[in-house]
Amino acid sequence: MPQTRTVAVVVGSLRKASFNRKMAQALCAIAPEGLKLEIVEIGQLPHYNQDDDADPPAASAAFKQKIAGVDAVLFVTPEYNRSVPGVLKNAIDIASRPYGKSAWSGKPAAVMTVSPGAIGGFGANHHLRQSLVFLDMPTLAQPEAYIGGASDMFDESGALKKPETKQFADKFMAAFAAWIERTAKAA
Ligand SMILES: Cc1cc2nc3c(=O)[nH]c(=O)nc-3n(C[C@H](O)[C@H](O)[C@H](O)COP(=O)(O)O)c2cc1C
Repeated sequence: MPQTRTVAVVVGSLRKASFNRKMAQALCAIAPEGLKLEIVEIGQLPHYNQDDDADPPAASAAFKQKIAGVDAVLFVTPEYNRSVPGVLKNAIDIASRPYGKSAWSGKPAAVMTVSPGAIGGFGANHHLRQSLVFLDMPTLAQPEAYIGGASDMFDESGALKKPETKQFADKFMAAFAAWIERTAKAA
């Protein structure tokens, strides 16, 4: 029986009715056995300021500690202006510093982008991956998860409406679980 792996789910939208948050909640609900997913909030974080590296604000320190304590990270984010929303980049920067003491380092990751638009946040997905390379986070390559058409994706309770989206979500989570085990073995 493989050990339980903890996964921080970081959502790149602060909007109350966020499609990405709904997707993150749906992924938490279908997590395969052996994965324990928890949404780690980023809306309370102050702007990153390098002057604070020696004595960071309490909310930033708590966020970094939370990330340091998990086995893996799942990013579920919208695309803003073909890139990563500022709130998400801010959270990534906060837990990455001081230099050499990043909380992200070595943790396996996966990226899903969700958008009402047709190209499913492709630009944000790949801009985020650029940061994850620098942060030394081995990131799931396949299946790629650019989820378009989000406006018609969730029912009133927030559940996924279409069987094909559910099937894809299951496949994505199974691949991520396998990826986490693979990277743990390789470490
Ligand atoms: C500042 C801003 C920039 C946006 N830029 C893009 C974009 O580049 N690509 C895209 O597909 N959608 C873009 N959108 C639309 C978002 O995909 C849409 O608002 C989506 O619902 C945001 O995700 P959420 O529902 O999780 O909050 C943008 C929205 C905002 C507010």
